[in-house]
Amino acid sequence: MRKKIIIANWKMNKTLGEGLQLVEEITKELNTQTQSDVLKIIAPSFIHLASLADKLKLNGFEIAAQNCHHISKGAYTGEVSAEMVASTGAKYVIIGHSERRMYFGESNDLLAQKVNSALSNNLTPVFCIGENLTERNANKHLEAVTKQLKEGLFHLSPTDFGKLIIAYEPVWAIGTGVTATVHQAQGMHNHIRSEINKKYGKDISSTIPILYGGSCNPKNAKELFACIDVDGGLIGGASLNAPDFVAIVNSIGN
Ligand code: 13P
Repeated sequence: MRKKIIIANWKMNKTLGEGLQLVEEITKELNTQTQSDVLKIIAPSFIHLASLADKLKLNGFEIAAQNCHHISKGAYTGEVSAEMVASTGAKYVIIGHSERRMYFGESNDLLAQKVNSALSNNLTPVFCIGENLTERNANKHLEAVTKQLKEGLFHLSPTDFGKLIIAYEPVWAIGTGVTATVHQAQGMHNHIRSEINKKYGKDISSTIPILYGGSCNPKNAKELFACIDVDGGLIGGASLNAPDFVAIVNSIGN
């Protein structure tokens, strides 16, 4: 049985005060007893990691950064290394989000280096892959995702690959209100698992968690999470308010 995982990606939202309040509201609403087997992770801005870490851990959450630099230290003004992320108590780091790829020009090659840096600092990378609308419309979505997978991750040893979480986030579904259908999500997750199987074998492909992200909300979460190859979600907009986020967490496995 693969672990069920829900990750809140707050992106560039929430002041420290708002973040603390949201954590308070989420923990109050969440029925932790029924959801003890769901791994819940919150990814606030870098600047709030240390301030939220203790409160989150106390309430059964893990904490993730949304990014890290690929080099361990040095004169890179404004950047944050994987070691710094780990020193806040975070155990996870999102790498390769499509917003990083799109707005900050992050290539698969750079992302591969970020993954290496995260792993060498004992952080679990949550590696994001997903096709854009042009690729989907041209029926090139499988190819596009395979390329990201191969160039970003397939240099890893089986041991390191087995530590990852993968998130499939079709770019056309992010923040648009257009969610992948169950058929599209399951189809792609199955494809990702079969590419991993070809490279790393069944033990790894059948145990690696693959999350879905893109306009996931309390209405569609249940059917998406019921797909056989979908192990949870990476939630953007709907993670910014407690009732929606808690409803999504509670829809897994129920
Ligand atoms: P939305 O849930 O707002 O579509 O964002 C998804 C996402 O990008 C999570 O990383």
